[in-house]
Amino acid sequence: MTTTTPVSPNEAVLTEALAGLTAHPQKTLPPWLFYDQRGSALFEQITTLPEYYLTRTERALFAAHSADILRQFLTPGAPSGLPLLAPDPFTIAELGAGTASKTGLLLHAATLLQPELLYQPIDVSPTALTTAADTLTAALPGLTVHPQLANYITEPYTLDHPSISPQGRPSQPAVRSRILALYIGSSIGNFTPDEATIILRRLRTHLQPGDALLLGTDLAPSRQKRLSTILAAYNDAAGVTAAFNLNILTRLNRELDADFRLSAFAHRVRWNAAESRIEMHLESLVPQTVHIAGHRIHFDQGDTIHTENSYKFTDAALEAQLARSGFTPTCTFHDSTRSFALTLAHTL
Ligand code: AVI
Repeated sequence: MTTTTPVSPNEAVLTEALAGLTAHPQKTLPPWLFYDQRGSALFEQITTLPEYYLTRTERALFAAHSADILRQFLTPGAPSGLPLLAPDPFTIAELGAGTASKTGLLLHAATLLQPELLYQPIDVSPTALTTAADTLTAALPGLTVHPQLANYITEPYTLDHPSISPQGRPSQPAVRSRILALYIGSSIGNFTPDEATIILRRLRTHLQPGDALLLGTDLAPSRQKRLSTILAAYNDAAGVTAAFNLNILTRLNRELDADFRLSAFAHRVRWNAAESRIEMHLESLVPQTVHIAGHRIHFDQGDTIHTENSYKFTDAALEAQLARSGFTPTCTFHDSTRSFALTLAHTL
């Protein structure tokens, strides 16, 4: 008989941290290590910073376009402004939903079309899922929330297509509801194109013809969007992003009994034009040796630990990413400076 030993969280942290910190030529740490309790709170703070335009821009897109997003989901190509008559029944799902505060705007518009609505948020954080379910059901009486506690990257998840009678036609037989799957907040940007393809293809396997993905992406610099604006979003004046980046070392000190001196490392942000991505690094300010779980890790002055990528998309890169993943874009909603996009993509 084979027995499996459960991996404690510290073991996963140890394995990944040691693999990354002994990598040549570039030391790395995986970005999921950011999100301990303090890191999650710092990220929440980042989303409210004046420099971090991503969250407020995406929120404004939902505030302005939720009704149109739903119209284009249900009847691609329909002119905006006309009422949707007896749309097909649908449900809304979300990967990495968090507390779903932006999603509330879309769900509100959805309950105007279909008062009895199912929302299926998937997230690794039980507290975020509870907050989402409590807040949304209190605000939207017809909403049912089926939360699913899962890491959508590494763990299985399900999406339900419940059978419902079409809105306004209760005498008609119930039909399979369509799914609008949200993957917003530029979360896809923290993965390489190959990793992103795996995540989206996996989502695609849960979807059927008529279903769609709504993807939120941050856009590449252009004539209207300055690179300096993007760089500032990852290097804010108040130093919250620096604290978020350095917190990964505090976590290793606490969980792995490491001895990183935080004052000997500095937050650095680089634009990698070839990959169209922002990179966050932690730069060693002096030559030093750090001890971590009995291992010695040497740093020359100027060596960095690469902690995060945040890809910024051109229209062409976005279309190629969607096509590789089994989707075709139906409609894109941008802000006036083309900083951020919400792209609706139906299954291919
Ligand atoms: C979570 N993710 C979309 C953020 C981003 O913009 O890449 C994480 C972040 N890193 C630094 N600031 C925010």
